[in-house]
Amino acid sequence: MKRIGVLTSGGDSPGMNAAIRAVVRCGIDRGMEVWGIERGYEGLLDGEIRPMDRSSVGDILHRGGTILKTARSERFREDKWIDKAAEILDTFGIEGLVVIGGDGSLHGGLELSHRGITVMGLPGTIDNDLSYTDYTIGFDTAVSTVLDAISKIRDTSSAHDRTTVIEVMGRRCGDIALYSAVAGGAECVLLPEKKEDINAVCRKIIEGSNRGKLHSIIIKAEGTPTSGTELIKVIEERTGKETKLVVLSYLQRGGSPTLNDRMLATLCGAKAVELLAEGSESKAIGTADGQIVAYDLTEALEMPGRFSEELYKLIDTLSK
Ligand code: F6P
Repeated sequence: MKRIGVLTSGGDSPGMNAAIRAVVRCGIDRGMEVWGIERGYEGLLDGEIRPMDRSSVGDILHRGGTILKTARSERFREDKWIDKAAEILDTFGIEGLVVIGGDGSLHGGLELSHRGITVMGLPGTIDNDLSYTDYTIGFDTAVSTVLDAISKIRDTSSAHDRTTVIEVMGRRCGDIALYSAVAGGAECVLLPEKKEDINAVCRKIIEGSNRGKLHSIIIKAEGTPTSGTELIKVIEERTGKETKLVVLSYLQRGGSPTLNDRMLATLCGAKAVELLAEGSESKAIGTADGQIVAYDLTEALEMPGRFSEELYKLIDTLSK
């Protein structure tokens, strides 16, 4: 394979730049031309494609966001536009494409693979919602950001004897909330994977307060049924404790990637190039049990969702 493309798509995640850097430099090292596609599938459809050299990815390893920009493409949901995208890649002579993005982006890649393009999917999302990989690129950084926020919020919550609900991202996946709750020592967590029980949350707050706890930290995933504003109202009414809401929102998407995210991004990027150079079929690349893994793209995207009941139960045990 002589010419390959790389794009980032969907919500950006810390580590995407590290992945682009690895794809460009490993590709060039193997004698390939690497072309960068701007603004994900949107930019592909608009022909925003340019050759990249080693220096074009200098000084980006430690930066959040993505130098290739990203977008959520409505057009790319339609067959006629996916056909068009495949044609454009063909016109540019791009035979292999590295797609760095979440579930929707990798499904887009799968569609292109059905049209003759070899696609390597890299899991670039803070949500950790791709079942085939233990971790996605950006998740570790996002959780670290949440942990930093929890520590700060804990100080002020203690000072005022308050309850604070911290709402975190993750779409329909509760992993950011779950891991933040375990590592941040939250009293309770509300996740889309579990039935919402606000009474149980209130009970936990009152029990904690009776034992002399100065504050309560509740982590709420954005994908749970009751809104943050409604939730704090109900908690305040039922517990009699002043309750505040902090929505961390896009803070979680920015920032310099952690060691784990830089390593995962770099190793996945290098693996994608290695597979393209070997003439492999389309794959989804990720990590399992500390190793870099590559699965058939279709099979990877069909793997059933996973949820750690043990971690969930542990939160209750640790916060008693
Ligand atoms: O998929 C990443 C994510 O940050 C989700 O956690 C969140 O629900 C969504 O993207 C927000 O999307 P947008 O950037 O389009 O507002």
